[in-house]
Amino acid sequence: MTALTIIILAAGKGSRMKSSLPKVMHKLAGRTMIGWILEAAESLSPAQIIVTVGPDMPELEAAVSGHTVAHQKQQKGTADAVKAAMPYIENKCGQVLILLGDEPFVSKDALNEMVGLGAPSIMAFDTENPSGFGRMVQRADHTLQQIIEEKDANEAQRQITLCNAGNFCLNYDDLEKWLPKIGCDNAQGEFYLTDLPQIAAQDQRFFEIIEVEAEQGWGINDRVQLASHEAYIQDILRVEAMQNGVTMMDPLTTYLSWDTKFARDVTIEPNVFFGAGVVVAEGANIKAFSHLEQCNIGKNSVIGPFARLRPGADLDENVKIGNFVEVKNSKLFKGVKANHHGYIGDAEIGAGTNFSCGAITVNYDGYKKHKTIIGENVMVGSNVSLIAPITVGNGAFIAAGSTISENIPDDSLAIERTKSEIKKGWSRDYQKRKKT
Ligand code: UD1
Ligand code: CA
Repeated sequence: MTALTIIILAAGKGSRMKSSLPKVMHKLAGRTMIGWILEAAESLSPAQIIVTVGPDMPELEAAVSGHTVAHQKQQKGTADAVKAAMPYIENKCGQVLILLGDEPFVSKDALNEMVGLGAPSIMAFDTENPSGFGRMVQRADHTLQQIIEEKDANEAQRQITLCNAGNFCLNYDDLEKWLPKIGCDNAQGEFYLTDLPQIAAQDQRFFEIIEVEAEQGWGINDRVQLASHEAYIQDILRVEAMQNGVTMMDPLTTYLSWDTKFARDVTIEPNVFFGAGVVVAEGANIKAFSHLEQCNIGKNSVIGPFARLRPGADLDENVKIGNFVEVKNSKLFKGVKANHHGYIGDAEIGAGTNFSCGAITVNYDGYKKHKTIIGENVMVGSNVSLIAPITVGNGAFIAAGSTISENIPDDSLAIERTKSEIKKGWSRDYQKRKKT
């Protein structure tokens, strides 16, 4: 088998994004663009993946760790970015596949086809709205004559709807020979990789066109395109979830992440947000307007409406989290109920415990977070504040309104309340006095 090297071009600043973040670090369905494209690249099992990055992109370098990083000092165009990667290629032979970092949903099938061809190839797509893309200028026999960038195109060329997706596959030897011949005599004064086909033609070598659906070949240059790519991937993720047995009452209002995991018979009410890292077990019901990220939801649990599960919320089966309850970094065992208005942070709550309305764990002292450990079958009354670190024994009962700062032994009552006073007839006299 011939060696395959993949180069991912990601050094562009992405100025059209108007962002301080490198373009490929923007997310789609909770995952960075570079994360998506790396998955596509890895699926081809190449010998090496090289990512070109620009100066001062530490977050991007961290995101591609484990692969080779090539620095492109100045962003002088896509051909210049490939030049920056050339010295890092370990196998100075075999095939080189060049991908654009801003094309997260590139077709894996098409990439496989390109690699399998063994001839120079390029990916293209047809679209009614080719604005901004390089146009594929074909000869009378439909072979590729040249790619012309929009800014360099004349009126007739701009009418062409077959566009360059930007991915090339060719032999290392050919790339090494043709790359230095690319100049920068064009509207943008950049070294365009898209000049390759014309240069190859001088050697009587012609690129084959592998055509894909527009959605698999388009790139992201600005936030409007980011949003349309998001809509595209959300649709795919939702359909996949529904086909695997999830009921979505109003799919268009369910936002999913790339790694959201559902078992069968999960029901999702309208307007639910799944951030990254959510796992939902069979039969769970996520009610409207809930916001979930990095959490586990156990079998037959009921979440929401208006619930917030933050990172580290780990819920066993039959747990109930109701409206305006927030859970963070906490383990809730089987059958725990926190049905209304509350905060559970850095806690462990035993099976069958009831966490009543308005109860909270006071986990933060202004400097450090502390742990709350609550046993099984505890009754935490309404508006109870548990000042952590604190341990509550099995079967304890904490009276409503109490602020507790010491450990409670098993089966005990804890109450912290000033004695109430009832003055008979006081209110009637008060009203009378005020009215006169
Ligand atoms: C490019 C193609 C265009 C094609 C389109 C498809 C060229 C000259 N044009 O245009 O024909 O239709 O993609 O989406 O190739 N990059 C670098 N270093 C640079 C410049 C760019 O690493 O100096 C990287 C960017 O980070 C980006 C990718 O290359 O990930 C593409 O660059 P971009 O500026 O977005 O190219 P387009 O204008 O979209
Ligand atoms: Ca682009």
